[in-house]
Amino acid sequence: MFALSKSTQFDWRLALHDIAGSRAHAKALLAAGLLTEQEAAEMDAGLAELARRVETGEFEAAPSDEDVHGALERGLKDVVGAELGGRLRAGRSRNDQIATLIRSYLRTEIRLIAQDLDGVLAALEQQAGEHLGAVMPGRTHLQSAQPVLLSHHLLAHAWPLARDVDRLRDLDRRLSVSPYGSAALAGTSLGLDPELVARELGFTSSTPNSIDGTAARDLVAEAAFVLAQVGVDLSRLSEDVIIWCTAEFGFARLHDSWSTGSSIMPQKKNPDVAELARGKAGRLIGNLTGLMATLKGLPLAYNRDLQEDKEPIFDGIDQLHVLIPAVAGMVATLTFDTARMAEVAPMGFSLATDVADHLVRERVPFAVAHEVAGETVQYCEDNGITLQGLTAADLPRISEHLDEGVLAVLTVAGSVAARNGRGGTAPDRVAEQLAELGSVREEL
Ligand code: ARG
Repeated sequence: MFALSKSTQFDWRLALHDIAGSRAHAKALLAAGLLTEQEAAEMDAGLAELARRVETGEFEAAPSDEDVHGALERGLKDVVGAELGGRLRAGRSRNDQIATLIRSYLRTEIRLIAQDLDGVLAALEQQAGEHLGAVMPGRTHLQSAQPVLLSHHLLAHAWPLARDVDRLRDLDRRLSVSPYGSAALAGTSLGLDPELVARELGFTSSTPNSIDGTAARDLVAEAAFVLAQVGVDLSRLSEDVIIWCTAEFGFARLHDSWSTGSSIMPQKKNPDVAELARGKAGRLIGNLTGLMATLKGLPLAYNRDLQEDKEPIFDGIDQLHVLIPAVAGMVATLTFDTARMAEVAPMGFSLATDVADHLVRERVPFAVAHEVAGETVQYCEDNGITLQGLTAADLPRISEHLDEGVLAVLTVAGSVAARNGRGGTAPDRVAEQLAELGSVREEL
């Protein structure tokens, strides 16, 4: 029973949050007249001393302690004596305690994750800034589609991560509601003020419903979702890096410090950071899925199943704290072969849309223009030339609609510059986008 029940091996990390909760609760006991000024002062000093002992490692959970709450009660009694130490538990339950601690823990940690993510944003921003004008093949279905700027593509990985940071900020607002005072489920009968405790702990308010306060874990699940989404976004970025670093693509090279060699193949430079990002995304999705499965059939209010929320969310936080800075390092030190990218950009007839767009500007209906562009590609394939290799003499043989004006748009630079609406890949638009990301980052 004890081995099954015991949680100190993972919930000890909440110890300082638990002590902060206890200090706030002691103030509520004082305000309700359940502690004298003298007792409250002694209690507060005792809890501060206990926090110091926890921080220095002087006090730790013992093998006989079931959970962080029990261990700290024992520790407090060591400091202030069993009589005063035994008064603190009045009016609270481990149910409202743990529901509060997990929220304050998550608030602290997701702020750090947001900071970590800003490091990846900074790396993407820096690389985009350094390669503002470089072109590359843009792909859909992994097939050549239309040329784009490398900076545009890099920034396309930054925006989802910026939204993740925004999600974390948003979640922080919802986490800022304290369940303390909900007690076991029905609230406290001792005249304790939940709003006082909430304020002391830096929360915006206390939970309006004590049953919900102790039973809800949707916020933990939401945190697990955002962590999983961060994993997925880093994984998609990583997959691009992995493909770009193959000899066949040859678009990018990893720095030695952020790649590994092979014990047998001397030429190898393996993208382990990117692969671990891809792999950990699966793990983070598993953490979210497992937690939601745990919550699905639970009746209100507290059930011991809820103890199972901790390991998956702690694991997610720990994994991302290690992973995100490594991804930032990998991105910041990537080197790009922009000549190779420029060479490949027009391949696969990626300028075909530009033929059609040119004809539309000449007032040819798009359906006809699309067909003529298709015939142009067919003509090039039949004659073993590229779209850029077309000359004026070829045009009348393809279609009566084609005039020499089309030759001017059949360049990668022309194609890219033409896509000049907001959000498009034209150099001016991407420069604006880069500046916009900069101001979004400042606000996050
Ligand atoms: N370790 C428990 C958890 O994580 C704390 C609350 C225990 N409450 C109880 N009534 N046994 O959920």
